[in-house]
Amino acid sequence: MRQIKFINSNWLYRAEFKEEYINGNINENDFTKVDIPHTNIELPYNYFDEREYQFISCYAKRLNLDSNNKGKKIYVDFEGVMLACDVYLNGNHITSHKGGYTPFSADITDFIKYDEENILVVKVDSTERKDIPPYGNVVDYLTYGGIYREVSLRIVDQTHINNIYTRTYNCLEESKKLEVDVEINNCGNDDKFNVSVQLLDNENVLYSVEKELEINKDMSINTLQIDDIKGLELWDLDNPKLYSVKVELRKDNEVIDSYSDRIGFRDAKFTTEGFYLNGKLTKIVGLNRHQSYPYVGYAMPERVQKKDVEILKYDLGLNLVRTSHYPQSRHFLDRCDEVGILVFEEIPGWQHIGDLDWQALAIKDVEDMIKRDYNRPSVILWGVRINESQDNHDFYTRTNKLARELDPVRQTGGVRYIHKSEFLEDVFTLNDFAHNGGERVFITQKEATGLDYKVPYLVTESNGHMYPTKSFDHEAKAVEHAHRHLRVINEVLGSEEISGTISWCAFDYNTHSCFGSGDKICYHGVMDMFRNKKYAAYSYASQKDCKDGIVLEAITEACRGERDGGGIIPFSILTNCDYVKIYKDGEYINEYHPDRNTYKNLEHPPINVYHILSSDLNLPVSDEDKNAIRNFVINKVKTGNLVDLTPEDYNFFGQIAARANITVPMILGVVYKLAGGWGEKENMLTIEGYINGEAVISKTIGELRWRSGIEVIPDDTVLSIDKTSYDATRVVVKIVDSLGNPLKFNNEFVEVEIDGPAKVMGPSKFGLVAGTSAFWIRTIGEAGEVKIKVKGMYFESEAKIDII
Ligand code: GAL
Repeated sequence: MRQIKFINSNWLYRAEFKEEYINGNINENDFTKVDIPHTNIELPYNYFDEREYQFISCYAKRLNLDSNNKGKKIYVDFEGVMLACDVYLNGNHITSHKGGYTPFSADITDFIKYDEENILVVKVDSTERKDIPPYGNVVDYLTYGGIYREVSLRIVDQTHINNIYTRTYNCLEESKKLEVDVEINNCGNDDKFNVSVQLLDNENVLYSVEKELEINKDMSINTLQIDDIKGLELWDLDNPKLYSVKVELRKDNEVIDSYSDRIGFRDAKFTTEGFYLNGKLTKIVGLNRHQSYPYVGYAMPERVQKKDVEILKYDLGLNLVRTSHYPQSRHFLDRCDEVGILVFEEIPGWQHIGDLDWQALAIKDVEDMIKRDYNRPSVILWGVRINESQDNHDFYTRTNKLARELDPVRQTGGVRYIHKSEFLEDVFTLNDFAHNGGERVFITQKEATGLDYKVPYLVTESNGHMYPTKSFDHEAKAVEHAHRHLRVINEVLGSEEISGTISWCAFDYNTHSCFGSGDKICYHGVMDMFRNKKYAAYSYASQKDCKDGIVLEAITEACRGERDGGGIIPFSILTNCDYVKIYKDGEYINEYHPDRNTYKNLEHPPINVYHILSSDLNLPVSDEDKNAIRNFVINKVKTGNLVDLTPEDYNFFGQIAARANITVPMILGVVYKLAGGWGEKENMLTIEGYINGEAVISKTIGELRWRSGIEVIPDDTVLSIDKTSYDATRVVVKIVDSLGNPLKFNNEFVEVEIDGPAKVMGPSKFGLVAGTSAFWIRTIGEAGEVKIKVKGMYFESEAKIDII
């Protein structure tokens, strides 16, 4: 039977490599003790030199195996080493690997010394080698360095299961079918074995099949199938039901290997009419995700990877994530399977196609990606083009052919930005950046494909560099950012030719000098690098069903001095409430409803507030004239600046003034005052959200506020030492005002103190960005209580985490 031992703690690491290390000639004083996932160098948050991570380093691990393991096959499985590496055991070269996003195994069987210490040495080349995808030209993301995904030891019999590839059929019928390719590695002789496949719901075996098979030496694939499977639940977005498949290999009634994986029964298909999940037309609304984090780059453990999925699914309400531009952590994808979010996964690359050797590596990436993630119900599309590359008929014919041979069920896509480029995939996937704030949101399918027939079609990027927005940008910019995302969602929901949109992007990310804002950050996220929300995040969150959480966010600082020209109207409220009521300084103003004219297709269009004039207007004019004045303000605010009055406007006010026997300035004074104008006392607005006629949420915004405290909010309050590597969680820090709102223009310094068995990943002193930030803390192998104190310049606060 197989044994899997994770070997992620206590590696020796040195930021350089010497040939003598290969033979285990390692002076521990020259090395640091590290745990995997590990980044070869911690980087500052921004303004660093990206050459800092580009070097060759050495990782070493002492291994002991007792002689009971003699006769077994022993592998070291690496899940991700950036960017290339050579693996040695006891001075022997075992294997090399090129490419940082796909797993590989080192067969150390022949070089192990039993009952003695073995030294495993990995030479890790994290330079941006032009011969390995994504490199060869510039790339708009960083790849960092090190053994940044987990490592394990796999001890199996000479004949063992290497992998299984499951396919489900007739999912929409009562009677379903499961096909399982069992990949067996026979390092012994040709022989007969029994292979069984069980379909389980938790521990309960629902169906099983067994066959005696002649298994030849080397690698072979044998297909078993279970027909007429009944009574199953489908894997769906709201009910991501997972089953498992367990495969056993038996010799003379003894189980010699057993392998399990989770699967889901679901039917996913892009058609010319759109994307169907389980027979239901489902508009895709998603975002692209880079797997990077501040300071530690790619090196984040399971819980943190999974948290990103939870943010995308539960906080933002998305139904798809694109793993731009490479296969991402298995933990991330596990969580996608578990929570019900679809995945478009693609091979590493960025615009550049290298020579034939380079292409061979990309083709191997196709194979490794598909083989790793074959059984995942969340994955609905394989991306088999280098993101945004030129056409290359031969190369992309090969990537498509391979993907279809390996996986005859899933469709292929290939992300392009070049219109009318050659369509070799099943789904035409285009990065459509047509929207620049004007009327036009997307080009037509025909303009994109150049074909005179309809094809399955998906927009895989929009926004991003068209409108980079920092969380501390001027309000008007952040608001337009939110509206651009809303426009994209609105457009796609109303389109009959686009299956969905995956905008750019979920989180800000570190990048190379030739991209970003000069500080090595691309501010393209709807959330910052710490996963804190910008206004645009609420463009997505507000589209959620209110049963998944009530959202009400006025995307304004509600402060007249932040606006060009002053004033606090208009502003938008992003909410999934039916309508809102607004009170100004305690006085009821009005009820406001979603703008269904501008955003016809959104479930929850924004509520635009164009006036905050109370109904009595405080003027001795008729009700009719009060209405006329209110409508005047609304129109003026919608079309431009309330201050910029024309002779016709004066004439309009003149007539009202004459009727009421008052002066025009009297009316204007009231209008400006009530519109929240310059030179009046602070505005305070309370916004109440209503669902089915009931008030369900209330928030107060406005000018009369001040910093009043610091919030320290861990994502998790319990961490575990019983994980495959160290555990970690994010702790969000927020300076809040007297209303409980974050202080967008605060950038004070904070300092973190930890008391207990944990440590901060990255610096413990940092400046806040837009009044907020976060840090991650990780376990160090001991259980206990951890007190986290965060001291700001004026306040401090504590949180507690238990490590069990
Ligand atoms: C795209 C590219 C992405 C990112 C984005 C920024 O062209 O595919 O990786 O660079 O632009 O908007």
